[in-house]
Amino acid sequence: MYDLKGKCIVLGVSGGIAAYKAAALASALNKTGADVHVIMTENAARFISPLTFETLTSNRCVVDMFDRGYKYDVEHISLAKAADLIVIAPATANIIAKTAHGIADDMLTSVVLAAKCKKLVSPSMNTAMLENPVTIDNINTLRKYGFEIIPSAAGRLACGDIGSGKLPEPDVILEYIARELAREKTLSGLKVTVTAGPTQEAIDPVRFITNHSSGKMGYAIAKEAMLRGADVTLISGPVSIDPVPFTEIRRVVTAADMFSEVKRALPHTDILIMSAAVADFRPSSPSADKIKKSGSDSPFSVPLKHTDDILKWVSENRHEGLFVCGFSMETRDLEENSRSKLTSKKLDMIAANDLREEGAGFGVDTNILTVITKSSAEKLPLMSKEEAAAALTDRIEDIIFQRQRHTPQDVV
Ligand code: CTP
Repeated sequence: MYDLKGKCIVLGVSGGIAAYKAAALASALNKTGADVHVIMTENAARFISPLTFETLTSNRCVVDMFDRGYKYDVEHISLAKAADLIVIAPATANIIAKTAHGIADDMLTSVVLAAKCKKLVSPSMNTAMLENPVTIDNINTLRKYGFEIIPSAAGRLACGDIGSGKLPEPDVILEYIARELAREKTLSGLKVTVTAGPTQEAIDPVRFITNHSSGKMGYAIAKEAMLRGADVTLISGPVSIDPVPFTEIRRVVTAADMFSEVKRALPHTDILIMSAAVADFRPSSPSADKIKKSGSDSPFSVPLKHTDDILKWVSENRHEGLFVCGFSMETRDLEENSRSKLTSKKLDMIAANDLREEGAGFGVDTNILTVITKSSAEKLPLMSKEEAAAALTDRIEDIIFQRQRHTPQDVV
């Protein structure tokens, strides 16, 4: 759940059948703590009542610029000034056309024209209207003026046609809004590569060796970095978690696959966070066919060999300016064992956790991280994995920005 307290969001609702979905969006936005102001076109008010939005947002829903009970003359300017973000969802072909050409003949178009903040537009209409070159031109014009377009979803439309033009689900639109508002863009311009989840090492086509990693910690870190404006690549072992929005995901299965993806990403990476639980061993020669029980009770063994240590390789091939954070999971001597990995793998930081501590093990939604660098060790309290991701990212930023302040070109 995002915290957007202190942010003012104007939600513009124009007149399409999808207007009803805007109620769920307004409700979701209200839950983030944002100050949500809904402006509807007159046609939208035929599909859904302004009272619905007023109840959901606790703010007056403005419909008509010439509403007599309202200070319309100043209101569009004050809302335009107050808004941190304007979202038009659903945006009909008509509102897109008017906005693209600077027409301001109602409250919504007037606020949009007067506002300097970022604007998101979520087109929603019949496929033929969406694909009409006039609409395409208008959408491109909006892009040219800095509006961001949320791609329409495809599926069965209200008119019965099947195609593009559906309003995306409210949680999808919420991700676009959160990306704009949830964090300061402290990592903007930086490329962050995160590894997450377990790897699987085949014994035969049916069985494999793996571990209990859920990938939740790595996914939370990737999301935190994305929200802070980084360009994020997530190299993920097999997990059952929804992808992180606005993030390039590279799916892998084995430690060897993960190794090749890290090698591929490394030259373009500024910050590498290896939170994956990479398998340390793999069957030396996986069987091409399923290994049969063969009716025998005698013990049998699967010969194993070491996988490549990815971080060890990174330590020998790292480029100038790269920041590397490893993870360490231990069941004893947490700090001592993790510190020796920090040194042997030439890491800038290692985030360690003790499997035996309640709330820090596999598969739970919390973690207790000890953040270790050459000169420090800080034990963080029990936190959700999202909070732990934010705390870890804060500490990485502390070091990176301190470092940047001391680069030679900064010293005059
Ligand atoms: N790691 C890696 N390549 C491997 C194994 C681990 O890059 N083949 C990385 C992990 O992603 C993690 C760090 O190394 O960031 C430490 O992993 P961990 O399993 O805790 O330690 P190991 O180095 O494998 O040592 P041990 O298993 O003996 O604790």
